Amino acid sequence: MRPNTEQDRAKWAAGTAAIDAYVRDGMKLGLGSGTTSHWFVRALGAAVSDGLDIVGVPTSTGTRDLAIEVGVPLTTLAEVRRLDLTIDGADEIDHDGNMIKGGGACLLWERIVADASQRLVAVVDDTKLVDTLGAFPLPIEVIPFSWESTRRSIARLLTRLGHPDPDLRLRTRDGEAVVTDSGNYLIDAHLRVIKDPLALDGQLNWIPGVVENGLFTGIADEMIIGHPSGEHEIRDVHNAPSARPSTTR
Ligand code: 5RP
Repeated sequence: MRPNTEQDRAKWAAGTAAIDAYVRDGMKLGLGSGTTSHWFVRALGAAVSDGLDIVGVPTSTGTRDLAIEVGVPLTTLAEVRRLDLTIDGADEIDHDGNMIKGGGACLLWERIVADASQRLVAVVDDTKLVDTLGAFPLPIEVIPFSWESTRRSIARLLTRLGHPDPDLRLRTRDGEAVVTDSGNYLIDAHLRVIKDPLALDGQLNWIPGVVENGLFTGIADEMIIGHPSGEHEIRDVHNAPSARPSTTR
């Protein structure tokens, strides 16, 4: 399979570069979701067939299916507990490495896998790098029970944090609510500019009914930025503060 647009070539550049830059024999890896991560998983499958010895934990059923197809051996966090490294994509990433994730509806498993990882490297094409997060709608995973009430609570919090009258949309496909791999719904917050990502990340999950939100603050250690030319650059962002200290790192 080959990339067939400029953006896809940049995603390919970032995803495949992660193998040589970070992956070593014996590693336990978190396998991200989305098209950029999937370039990584395909390259990983090729490296495994050339003799690389790793195991992976997928962050979605889609990534699990791809990993099986390309021959990446899989395990679970029940079996291995800690991961050496996760490679995952982002919908937006700022210069400190704070991210919006969940465009592909996989944020909950992605967050759990990231939290179990010693190190996280974000793989992004160069359109994802922004000065301020928020042009991409922030995904918030909610329990289906009484989701309208949860949405009202989210609106009240956002108003208090300087986003009055926020545009909060239930994510749908073909007229039906999108259901995540864990059976939940997604509310996309169209905020345009997120004034204080750390405050928002720190407070959203306290709302009853909110399972997880797509703001990953202070979690990325490095980022690989791919360009349409096929080149990539690596940036170290591991000193950025996190809204929610990891329980496992
Ligand atoms: C899925 C994600 C993805 O990492 C994010 O949507 C980026 O996807 P892509 O690499 O296809 O642009 O968070 O929930």
